[in-house]
Amino acid sequence: MHDVEVKRRLGEDDIAEIADLLMTIEAADHHAALGEHQWLDLVQGGRGGTAGFVARGRGRARVLGYAQLQHGAGSYAIELAVHPAHRGDGVGGDLLAAALGEVAAQGGGHVHLWIAKPTPADDAMAAAAGMRRGRELYQMRRALPLEEDLAKHGAGLSTRAFVAGEDEDAWLALNNRIFSAHPEQGSWSRATIVAREAQPWFDPAGFLLHERDGRLAGFCWTKVADPDDPAAGEIYVIGVDPDLHGRGLGRALLAAGCAHLSAAGCPSVFLYVDAANTAAVGLYRSFAFAVDHHDRAYVADVPASNPPR
Ligand SMILES: CC(C)(COP(=O)(O)OP(=O)(O)OC[C@H]1O[C@@H](n2cnc3c(N)ncnc32)[C@H](O)[C@@H]1OP(=O)(O)O)[C@@H](O)C(=O)NCCC(=O)NCCS
Repeated sequence: MHDVEVKRRLGEDDIAEIADLLMTIEAADHHAALGEHQWLDLVQGGRGGTAGFVARGRGRARVLGYAQLQHGAGSYAIELAVHPAHRGDGVGGDLLAAALGEVAAQGGGHVHLWIAKPTPADDAMAAAAGMRRGRELYQMRRALPLEEDLAKHGAGLSTRAFVAGEDEDAWLALNNRIFSAHPEQGSWSRATIVAREAQPWFDPAGFLLHERDGRLAGFCWTKVADPDDPAAGEIYVIGVDPDLHGRGLGRALLAAGCAHLSAAGCPSVFLYVDAANTAAVGLYRSFAFAVDHHDRAYVADVPASNPPR
């Protein structure tokens, strides 16, 4: 038996307990328990419309699960994290019901729930809450270094490192144009990038910019999340000015990003890509990236619980 508590703000004790839960989950699943955006919001005290849901065992203070609701860009996003020893106990379903209840109370709307490495039990939990399958995200990987015939695509491409305090505006304008149709990546603000720059993993030397005719034309932002785990080289965000698509720039930037990660000592590289993004998936497959696992979104359109009169 457990109770679910709604939190509008998370105190320091809550954050410590939830961080503990997330670490336990990550160690068991070999996968981050919350997406980076959600985790940063949590650590930084949350933005408007964010609510946390904490499930605790009755009579015991132990946190069994955590859900976070975010309201942004016209829709809601929910993420769930349940302690490995308490899966199948209904904790996830109860957290989900609480978060969907909060959406209804806030006026209803379109909701996404992202699940990493979904199982039939997740399908059943989502269906029981009235949610259906939506987008799929692939995590793709390959070993480094690139073979010579792939590495050569980066030869001759001039790149320079991102300069914090100078490149934000130009980069934001290009990023938001490249990803205008993307629900998460297309609406970054100055605050979003400044928050990334404040992260311990942020390394401008791995944030490669390519300029053409004095203008930013594309970029490959790499990330080495944990210096103690050099296997974790990531192509974090890659994009090419839409006016320059189909001319080999994406290929060249990907090769440059992989070369940077190889030089940083990463024996492998991974990235996340929307399964429906045929251009990017095609690019990665042509570089011999293979799907390691996938994440799934479940979606629903939740009516308001108190419709405006
Ligand atoms: C993905 C992206 C970086 C590719 O950049 P690009 O400069 O247009 O790509 P290139 O010209 O170097 O093409 C390289 C390969 O990508 C694949 N590709 C590129 N565009 C494609 C398309 N429209 N459809 C299918 N495959 C495509 C092909 O395999 C292509 O090789 P080919 O030309 O030999 O067929 C670019 O489309 C982009 O910026 N997209 C928006 C941002 C994005 O989705 N980033 C990835 C997020 S994970």
